[in-house]
Amino acid sequence: MGVDCDGNFLFIVRQLFIRPTLMTTASAPGKIILFGEHAVVYGRPALAVPVTQVHVEVNVSDSASPGIWIDASDVDLHAELNTLPSDHPIASVIHNFLFLSRVSTFPNLEIKITSTIPVASGLGSGAAVTVALTRALASHLDRSMTDAEVNAFAYEIEKLHHGTPSGIDNTVVTYAKPVYFVKGEPIEVFKVGKPFTILIADTGIAAPTKESVGDVRRLWREDKSRWETIFDKIGEISFTARRAIDAGKPEFLGGLMNENHALLQTLTVSSPELDRLVESARGAGALGAKLSGGGRGGNIIALVDSETAAPVSLALRETGARNTITTQVS
Ligand code: PMV
Repeated sequence: MGVDCDGNFLFIVRQLFIRPTLMTTASAPGKIILFGEHAVVYGRPALAVPVTQVHVEVNVSDSASPGIWIDASDVDLHAELNTLPSDHPIASVIHNFLFLSRVSTFPNLEIKITSTIPVASGLGSGAAVTVALTRALASHLDRSMTDAEVNAFAYEIEKLHHGTPSGIDNTVVTYAKPVYFVKGEPIEVFKVGKPFTILIADTGIAAPTKESVGDVRRLWREDKSRWETIFDKIGEISFTARRAIDAGKPEFLGGLMNENHALLQTLTVSSPELDRLVESARGAGALGAKLSGGGRGGNIIALVDSETAAPVSLALRETGARNTITTQVS
């Protein structure tokens, strides 16, 4: 994602000598899928919640020098828009935004993107960049956008880069609320009867969702009835989990997580590293654990309480987790 030396040099020179003005800021949280990943692509329900401990922030300011200058240090990107390929994830958001907003003359802008969401780990970093960047651009260029418009735009961008996404990532990141998601249906924010705690642990392995989604699609094409049965079972788990959360009985989620993980293993989207972390969490006292997101790498989630949070976190780190985040669902 870097640019050549000349591009970097020009960027640094103008950073030193030209001061931007008028700044607009927007941010978007990360997310985790509690239940239903992969089956959600095939119309079954899934549950996802925002993770506010990590986020993307975008600052847009007027630039005195011509062009749209992007500074995203986390991915080592320092470049002018037109030096990037048009299908670059960040460039495609800006090009599509300007096109759809019917901006005839390109504005001169400085765009700074910072993120604490690990890339390709199931925490929704791509969707969060799209949503925060869209909102910052809209606000800076005086274009008003409703949440529904931001969400629809972000879904189109997800489709450009992820093949056949369900739309769950952009939805939960846009609305920043717990979402019971069924593809193509109106958004349902779910009620949390009693708060509960989820521990997120990162394998440190970046795994593109597009690949696992593509592999599941190949399996499904070969034997639709077999995999539809698995998707049905996962959908039932999501449905039951929502009822348990609504009724204030989160303790039931542990068993449901374990069942969901077993079905994801059958779908071939787990990995030895994910399985090791799941086992470690359960062994250290978590009520249940599963992979979260596309799988093959990325994160696992575990249901913990005030007594088990610390020992489970320690066990996960000893088993090789790169990082752990504790988040309250409320
Ligand atoms: O972006 P991730 O890795 O959290 O995964 C998204 C969830 C999938 O169900 C695997 C794909 C999708 O589009 O819903």
